[in-house]
Amino acid sequence: MRDRLQTADAVAENDEPVDYQTVSTPVLVVGAGAAGARVAIALAEAGVEPLVVGKRDHGDAHTTWAAGGINAALGSLDPEDDWTVHAADTLDEGHYINDPEAVELTAKHMPDRIRELADWGMPFDRTEDGTINQRYFGAQSFRRTCFVGDRTGEAMLDTLVAKARELEVPYRDNVMVTRLLTDGERVAGAMGFDMATGEFVLLRSDHVVLAAGGASALYHRHSSREDENNGDGLALALGAGARLADVEFVQFHPTGMVGDRYGEEWDGRLVTEAVRGEGGRLFNAAGERFMERYSPDQMELDARDVVARAIAREIREGRGTDDGGVYLDISHRDGEYIRERLPSMYERFQSLGVDITEAPMEVAPTAHYSMGGVDIDFATGETGVPGLYAVGETVAGVHGANRLGGNSLAETVAIGKLVGEHVADRVDDGAPTVTSGQRALAEREFRALAELEASDGEVTARDLLADLGDILWEHAGILRDEASLREGLAKLDALRARTTDLRVAGDRTTRDFEFAVDLSFSLPIAETILRGALERTESRGAHYRTDYPETDGDWRRNILVSEGPTGLELRARGVADPSPEVQDAVERGYELDYHHLE
Ligand code: FUM
Repeated sequence: MRDRLQTADAVAENDEPVDYQTVSTPVLVVGAGAAGARVAIALAEAGVEPLVVGKRDHGDAHTTWAAGGINAALGSLDPEDDWTVHAADTLDEGHYINDPEAVELTAKHMPDRIRELADWGMPFDRTEDGTINQRYFGAQSFRRTCFVGDRTGEAMLDTLVAKARELEVPYRDNVMVTRLLTDGERVAGAMGFDMATGEFVLLRSDHVVLAAGGASALYHRHSSREDENNGDGLALALGAGARLADVEFVQFHPTGMVGDRYGEEWDGRLVTEAVRGEGGRLFNAAGERFMERYSPDQMELDARDVVARAIAREIREGRGTDDGGVYLDISHRDGEYIRERLPSMYERFQSLGVDITEAPMEVAPTAHYSMGGVDIDFATGETGVPGLYAVGETVAGVHGANRLGGNSLAETVAIGKLVGEHVADRVDDGAPTVTSGQRALAEREFRALAELEASDGEVTARDLLADLGDILWEHAGILRDEASLREGLAKLDALRARTTDLRVAGDRTTRDFEFAVDLSFSLPIAETILRGALERTESRGAHYRTDYPETDGDWRRNILVSEGPTGLELRARGVADPSPEVQDAVERGYELDYHHLE
């Protein structure tokens, strides 16, 4: 099988004709979740008609699975809150390797983005006096998380899609982008195929915005659906010459459903942080409220990395349930309140025979989010490769070493709007023409895909992806150390060797073929995670090295990864300081007082 890190050069030149469709657009947006939608809206409002492509139906993106809320310092319930405290909390829980500009832009713009979403019809929960309601979320000093029950992401994406349709933004579903079109200097579009018809597609554009999600689904246990967050966006950018940053920081959400209890199809799926935000308590199998030992002040609402490590430790040390989890219980709250605030959780567990107003849920940590990703300039989305921009979970910067719940949805709209406006400014022509050189590059890619389709070995991509998930879970999981990371890299090499014996059982419209393409994205990104984690000889946020358990001030640096002539190259870069007003908020030392919830 070809490796994503080699260009399609490895495919022999030949004169065999190859059929493909050509589409030309001023701006191509790859990915149709909240970030892609917000970029497209900004473009359309500036008079530029982009083309948005996605793998699924419009409105069916991973954003729909972000449940509990979106952060903005509105101060609806806690008037002391303001954007500088939001920024300070984000930096503090990101352990100060966030990009301060990214954090400040997000925090500063969010109140306006929330009001805008409300104006566009997003049905936020309201207080009795009609202001937008806000709930507690982990490690945030104030109630800052705006919500629509526990289906906030779905409501937000519905709102953004409706707005994009009102603006007549073209959307094409069933498109899987496999490689960016680049001459080595600048990006000029993308290549891929139509997953419904199998047709190859050349998407020609001078401005390509990657909004294609993260890479947490590379892990054996994860909160995403099977075909999302496979590292597409990161791998496409890396292959086109962009830098990645901080890929070793993978968020393990503390509360994923436990497969042995609820069935494999539910394994790792999210039990929203809103359960804890509304007062949910964690107990081990002995009935002990164990967060008292790990975090007596913030309890279940400490940062995700802290709570995830605590749960993992309870399970590892034999205090978990027989199914391999711990209990999350909200039954002490009024049943009507639970049904109103957590309707999706209530219904989901009800359908599995559990009434959460009376009984606890069984949960364990699950890979949920990539804090790392493409290294961009946040005011513009520029990647450093002319013609290529990125936004949303595909990028690194806002969240540092550990993301606050509710900040991912925030980043999508706060930064998405800025990036869309910037790209709109850069567009000077309409749809570009296609040169013969670009056609030759595209045809080479299509022949490589045809070769992949014809793979007739013994091992399926689905099996290799499952093995890759096990490698990451075991060797680059919640706890890491040098020996285990090295072993993970050796296993990755062995797995790569097995790809020469790949079998693709169906044509380009099959899941088998899609998995084979996913695998080509996943392999280099798995390597960046393992190598970054090995390089970072300290513990910080979600990256916990048992052989380096302390945070090391000298490591207040981002690890950048790029593709060099002989493979991946890693280097460290220092982090800028926050602005004086945010530094002042940091020094004021705000903290969540959990006991308000009692
Ligand atoms: O738990 C949750 O509802 C997840 C939210 C988020 O990741 O921001």
